Amino acid sequence: MMNRTGIIRLLVDFFRRESIRQVIILTDENVEKHYPDYFSELTGWVSVDKVVLPAGEQAKSMETTVSVWSRFVDRQYDKGVLLLNFGGGVICDIGGFVASTYKRGIRFVNFPTTLLAMIDASVGGKNGVNVHHVKNAVGTFYFPDIQLPVDLKLLETLPKEELKSGFGELVKYALIGSEKLFNDLDALPDLNSLKEEHIGFCIDFKRKIVQKDPNDTGLRHILNYGHTIGHAIESYSSEAGTPMSHGLAVAQGLYYESLLSAKLGRLPKEEWEHIDRFLKKQFDIMPITDKFLEKLTPYMLNDKKNRNNLVNFTLIDHIGHADPDFQIALDTLARAICPLP
Ligand code: NAD
Ligand code: GLY
Repeated sequence: MMNRTGIIRLLVDFFRRESIRQVIILTDENVEKHYPDYFSELTGWVSVDKVVLPAGEQAKSMETTVSVWSRFVDRQYDKGVLLLNFGGGVICDIGGFVASTYKRGIRFVNFPTTLLAMIDASVGGKNGVNVHHVKNAVGTFYFPDIQLPVDLKLLETLPKEELKSGFGELVKYALIGSEKLFNDLDALPDLNSLKEEHIGFCIDFKRKIVQKDPNDTGLRHILNYGHTIGHAIESYSSEAGTPMSHGLAVAQGLYYESLLSAKLGRLPKEEWEHIDRFLKKQFDIMPITDKFLEKLTPYMLNDKKNRNNLVNFTLIDHIGHADPDFQIALDTLARAICPLP
């Protein structure tokens, strides 16, 4: 964690070391409105240009990517530029994708402004865009040139519902990585009482897992806990015209994938009951009927982790410990999570 002055100093040192003279800031209209001058001191050291995208998940598309590529070509940026992604997960995901593809790859840095991007999207080199509401259908692995510390002051302007969305991913880290974090979160009076150590735990945990499995071949799948169902709910609600934020959809997924873990005999009943109470207290958990599951199925079958038409899940056996890669048939899933008619 670091303040703005420290961040600028780190960046300037990095630019001097790497002989970077041109920086493009990629941001969205909300972040631009709140922080138009966050990086203003950089202009004393490098030439700075800015590209401002519309805010929100809808912008995470090939159309937006093409518009950014076009602007870069029109402005004749060469391989020497550095892209500085300044925003939430949407900006980090599109920006990383653009950086990995423009002129076959330029340097880039993520500087996250949402809780969700601080603990997850800005770390680990996964990037990409949605296609026909299917989450992250196209993308690359491409790693930022440096990982900056986060500036928690940026969270002061984040709308409450976006903080809650980030909280969904935080709960994921607790369920897969730390019973202590889970108990801390359970005891929090409100989200404003989140501590640096909670955020720091998630960033360190993700870095360690990514270091062991950068290309997402096995172990890293645990970071997708809650996402097999969560992404399907996010995609379905977006297509139905009632979009749900990423973190809130992941919270639904965490609930049902924990229920699945319990029903398959892995997660002890008392631990499931604790998760059930906690998630219902924090989030509005929606029922998944057989009919609704049918609507989610096409999206689940599109999940990148799947093989041989079975759906790939991470399951937990205790609060704070997960194992990846359980191949589960859809009827087994339905029996485990849908209420009896
Ligand atoms: P987001 O980027 O859409 O940001 C949420 C909203 O907050 C936007 O309206 C944005 O303009 C606004 N905002 C951002 N920072 C602000 C600030 N400091 N003050 C006020 N408003 C601010 O959404 P998100 O939740 O940050 O990210 C979600 C995306 O991240 C999803 O597309 C998800 O798939 C992706 N993701 C990627 C990874 C990865 O590893 N690549 C991991 C998790 C999630
Ligand atoms: N968000 C999951 C991952 O980065 O692997």
